[in-house]
Amino acid sequence: MDRSYARRTQRGESIQGLGGGAFPALLLKGWVGRLGGLQAFEVTAQLKSIKRQQLLDMKCSTGELQVESVCRTLYNAFPSLMQHLPGPHKMVFSSCEFMCSFIRKEVENCQKGGVSQEQKDYTHLYLAQIDKEKIDSTTTFDEDNLVQVIFDLFAGGTDTLVATLSWALLFMVAHPNIQEQVQKELGSALSPSKLVCYEDRKRLPYTSAVIKETQRFSNVILFGAPRVCVDDMNVLGNFIEKNTLVIPDLCSINLDPKLWETPRQFNPNHFLDKDGKFIVRDEFLPFGTGSRACLGKHIAQVELFVLFTSLVRAFTFRLPEGVKEVNTEPVIAAVLHPRPFKLCAVPH
Ligand code: HEM
Repeated sequence: MDRSYARRTQRGESIQGLGGGAFPALLLKGWVGRLGGLQAFEVTAQLKSIKRQQLLDMKCSTGELQVESVCRTLYNAFPSLMQHLPGPHKMVFSSCEFMCSFIRKEVENCQKGGVSQEQKDYTHLYLAQIDKEKIDSTTTFDEDNLVQVIFDLFAGGTDTLVATLSWALLFMVAHPNIQEQVQKELGSALSPSKLVCYEDRKRLPYTSAVIKETQRFSNVILFGAPRVCVDDMNVLGNFIEKNTLVIPDLCSINLDPKLWETPRQFNPNHFLDKDGKFIVRDEFLPFGTGSRACLGKHIAQVELFVLFTSLVRAFTFRLPEGVKEVNTEPVIAAVLHPRPFKLCAVPH
């Protein structure tokens, strides 16, 4: 892992350079994408920044086009016809091809360097597994699968995190008293010279509650992956026939008035008991549940915690001069982002 990058990220150097001026929240995309790359293959750290940006832009266009475009419906209905017609779906394909060829090159670079036991990034571990299972004719571990899995991790893990972090900062701007309380807790629980680590969450109940509440209230993924019911069954008095397609409606849980005291308000107390201690809520399901639940849940929780606490520790976020209102209506797409907004990061 590129430690100097992690350190610079925690100090928020790219935002510091803006001197408290307004910047688009989309700047977060570079940070999060870069962290995803570091988990998959260390060599990403050597990529020229232009190539990295191209990769992130591609990922963005893949995500945006997936749901918003009418083309998607047409493509699903007439795939063989649409393949021959121009349209935004072509951009999705070229984005995917670009990403896969980029990943393939990185995998080849890792292979050229040899597979050593000391190298612990995902690609090296996967390559070692391919080596181990070579003699097994039924193995599913091969280079093509490796490329696809890394693609899935990138695709699943960037937009979701960027959206959640953007919401977190927007909520801090909308609720300056909550931001102040987070900064107070961070200031008293952490020594100024120490970098934040995930273990620190145990001493930061209020901050942890703010992060969970951000996820509950922003609902960045409305629906889980579709499943097919394998047997006739009864769920809470509702009969579900074998082979029925089931789509989990995560929003119905995250905003259920029977489960949450003030479901339609940003309220970190949903995750705190009367003594201010953090409480784990089983009803909190932003990552879905069951065997198709989010594969990156643990990485996401660590990244969200470290990035959010580092940012709010280093800066006070506020609206640019003259802007009075915060728009918390989402842009409806595969991943719900806030509408584009600008922030000022004033060094704290
Ligand atoms: C705040 C961040 C994230 C949120 C809110 C989120 C949410 C979700 C949700 C709701 C699902 C569908 C679960 C279901 O159907 O039950 C999912 C699936 C998935 N997520 Fe995430 N995710 C996040 C971050 C990540 C990260 C960082 C990665 C990878 C590093 C990742 C990789 C995946 C993958 C591969 C799947 C598909 C799992 C499958 O189909 O079996 N996600 N995510």
